[in-house]
Amino acid sequence: MMNNVDTKSFITECALKVDSFLDKYLIIKDSYSSKLIESMRYSLFAGGKRIRASLLISSYSLFSDNIDIVIPFAAAVEMVHTYSLIHDDLPAMDDDDYRRGKLTNHKVYGEALAILSGDALVTKAFELINDRSISPSISDTARVDISTSLSVSSGDKGMIAGQVADILYGENSTPDKSLLKYIHMNKSTELIKASILIGARLANAYEEECRLLSSYGNSIGLAFQIQDDILDITSSKEVLGKTAGKDVVQSKLTYPSLFGLDESKRILDELLNKAKDDISFFGDRAKVLNGISDYIIYRDK
Ligand code: IPE
Ligand code: IPE
Ligand code: MG
Ligand code: MG
Ligand code: MG
Repeated sequence: MMNNVDTKSFITECALKVDSFLDKYLIIKDSYSSKLIESMRYSLFAGGKRIRASLLISSYSLFSDNIDIVIPFAAAVEMVHTYSLIHDDLPAMDDDDYRRGKLTNHKVYGEALAILSGDALVTKAFELINDRSISPSISDTARVDISTSLSVSSGDKGMIAGQVADILYGENSTPDKSLLKYIHMNKSTELIKASILIGARLANAYEEECRLLSSYGNSIGLAFQIQDDILDITSSKEVLGKTAGKDVVQSKLTYPSLFGLDESKRILDELLNKAKDDISFFGDRAKVLNGISDYIIYRDK
């Protein structure tokens, strides 16, 4: 079994590889676009945990050790994720001043540039996936599948649907378990599950293997957001790098608000066990993913 230290160093290695790729990929080309690129880079390199990149890479590593080939795709997922955070923090949405231990993008660059940087990050992710000069051994068919997976999971059938429900119906709502599940499965789980499935697709995994990983993604993705809800209550701005306690202030529909903290933690444990069961088929090879599952559930930020 992978211990805590091994998992942390695996995630650090993934983050370093992804960051070094992005650092070279996202460069200022002319003076008119320099502010845009600066603002995209500000949020991209603000110090995210790179959990989605690590999940993609560890899912791929169930099948192959040559992880360098998948780094650009992990970077693309992190670009989409970063765009979602910049927009999530806007005054029209959660209205947050801090993210990843720094001022939010709109606080530094203004709302217009924050919106446009988000737009540019999400579109750039698809430019990257479909650039045949990057990881040239990846087939066009795989690139189409990955683009589809990323766009569907982050679009109107996934993350955006969840964000809309969170904003329109999640605030000051009556306690509604099916709405809560809908919000969490869409706003967070879909992209997390897609990261895992993209790793599997890059490794040409079999359908049955993808089915198991999809089920794992559903469990670990929901667990991820429940822990985010819990930390909003139990942690501090200093540790989280983002304002704590805001879900209660904004009357958000969360697992702790509906079930209480103890029951939310019990649900988390249940999801962790289910996630491990889902990938037990992979035997010893699943130890990296299992380590990341523990990290997701026991993380403090
Ligand atoms: C925060 O995601 C947004 C949610 C979906 C809850 P992360 O907790 O993965 O944020 P970073 O990337 O580490 O900043
Ligand atoms: C954000 O959920 C989900 C997305 C950005 C898609 P939250 O609003 O709970 O995330 P934090 O707590 O601001 O990171
Ligand atoms: Mg939100
Ligand atoms: Mg938010
Ligand atoms: Mg939150």
